[in-house]
Amino acid sequence: MKSRFFQRVRVAWVLSTIVPCGFVPAAERIDTSKLPPPANRSNVTYEADIRPIFEKHCFKCHGSEEKPKAGLRLDSREATLKGSREGKVIEVGQSARSALVHSVARLGDEDHWMPPPGKGEPLTAEQIGLIRAWIDQGAR
Ligand code: HEC
Repeated sequence: MKSRFFQRVRVAWVLSTIVPCGFVPAAERIDTSKLPPPANRSNVTYEADIRPIFEKHCFKCHGSEEKPKAGLRLDSREATLKGSREGKVIEVGQSARSALVHSVARLGDEDHWMPPPGKGEPLTAEQIGLIRAWIDQGAR
């Protein structure tokens, strides 16, 4: 009797810890305090600052080829703003809430780290800071 009671308590406890987590959307599990800070610079632009980073690290898979990965092209400002098949990857003015920033900072689900592990060098904190400043300043 007693052991069955404890078994139920244990089952309930296990369920209460596992089940709710399964429903928390990925974005809410991201600890944005771990993001590198935005670069302390004004007038960050796609053409001068961001395109060269994307060209070196992302165009291989998100360039102008026939079938860009996830339907996402990063080879122009407009395409970057448009996003992927799933929707927007940056929130203009809010870099800490932008999926693209989470992916290059390697926060959240490893499946979404960019470039994918083993497929290219991770971006540096400086590069991520520049992308953040660009988004925060209106993605011009
Ligand atoms: C070797 C190929 C490759 C490289 C290089 C690469 N990606 Fe990706 N990217 C993918 C694949 C495959 C997916 C689809 C899987 C996924 O969503 O994680 C993807 C998906 C994404 C997504 C999510 C799109 C969505 O809404 O699902 C973003 C944002 C992204 N990449 C940004 C970048 C950035 C920024 C770079 C450069 C720093 C980069 N990627 C470099 C292959 C690549």
